[in-house]
Amino acid sequence: MLTKKIIKENLNFILFGASGDLAQLKLFPSLYELVWQKRMPAHYIIFGFARTQWTHAEFRDHVEKSVRTHLDHVDDDLLSELLAHVYYVSGSYDDGKSYEQLAAEIHRYQPDPSAKTLAYYAIPPTLFQSVTQQLGGMRTQFSGPFHIMIEKPFGQDRESASDLFQFILNYFDHDEVFLLDHYLGKSSVKSILPLRYYNSVLNFLLQGKEIANIQISALETLGVEERIGFFDQVGIVKDMIQSHLFQVLALLTMSMPVDEAVKNIRREKGNILAALRPDQRPGSLVLGQYKGYRDQPGVPPDSNTPTFAALRCYLDLLDWYRVPIYIRTGKRLSHKHTYVTIEFKKSIFQENTRAQPNRLVLELFPSEKFKSTWSINMEN
Ligand code: BG6
Repeated sequence: MLTKKIIKENLNFILFGASGDLAQLKLFPSLYELVWQKRMPAHYIIFGFARTQWTHAEFRDHVEKSVRTHLDHVDDDLLSELLAHVYYVSGSYDDGKSYEQLAAEIHRYQPDPSAKTLAYYAIPPTLFQSVTQQLGGMRTQFSGPFHIMIEKPFGQDRESASDLFQFILNYFDHDEVFLLDHYLGKSSVKSILPLRYYNSVLNFLLQGKEIANIQISALETLGVEERIGFFDQVGIVKDMIQSHLFQVLALLTMSMPVDEAVKNIRREKGNILAALRPDQRPGSLVLGQYKGYRDQPGVPPDSNTPTFAALRCYLDLLDWYRVPIYIRTGKRLSHKHTYVTIEFKKSIFQENTRAQPNRLVLELFPSEKFKSTWSINMEN
């Protein structure tokens, strides 16, 4: 069973990009969930920071609307409790004065001078460096631990990612930087390793030899809408595959680490990612763009940015090298469904029959569950 961790140290949570899409769609509802699960520390404050001119009250209205829109059951008292910890500073991302104001406001509302500070970058990557530089100056005014949290895209390729990391290390130590993939926070994704640990039969089957293929699908109904500026530069492959879906693949196929130490998990995952080989044969990669994508404001009329991708790849590892891995994902499709299908080789009882192969399905959305379909040949 997964245990819920309570945040013990008092917390200053700074949300850069507080007026944006990510904050509204995911982060405010998640903060509410933390309050609902009683995981927040005794003293926490949440500071939104963005260019939009808002008062604390206007920002709280925005947070409230987001929580009510994106969650089904909202408890009014808990929501009020969350909102009572929410504040806002409007400012410019590269202006030192805005950060002085932010630091002063945090000190004003946070009773614990050694509270931990966590700065979340829900901002376009073009702002990462200025915000990091400014935070590097501001952190001297805080005596508690100070972390920054960055989600993808982290650079456009290996070289630019490495340059960005080197830049950040001028201001923060390695262990003060959290690089985040929100898929790893989904409870079904978090369950993959424990499930493999505690179910030796399943773990045995997941060693490649018995598997006919793996299919990872993330189908979405939403288009790109307000995130077009970001998405058109990045496309669906970097947005979904090299980040989230490769993480899921690694968790399923990696050798089990001896324990949960980060370095051991990272090493085993790294082995999988290093062994990934795209299938170069024609037809192994299909890209598409949804109808109407180019008509959206902000999209160049000749944009070829894919919003759909399906690919076949392999792992160059002894147990896996003949197992095709299919990954497909797309926007504006008919329904939202995120799932992994592990199809097993037919057993000797199924061979030469029309029986469907056995499958194990890991559902990530809409429900979070595992299910298996076993098929028996009833013909004889
Ligand atoms: C984000 C991508 O990281 O994940 C989005 O940038 C995508 O394009 C989203 O829609 C999907 O996440 P979820 O949790 O809604 O499946």
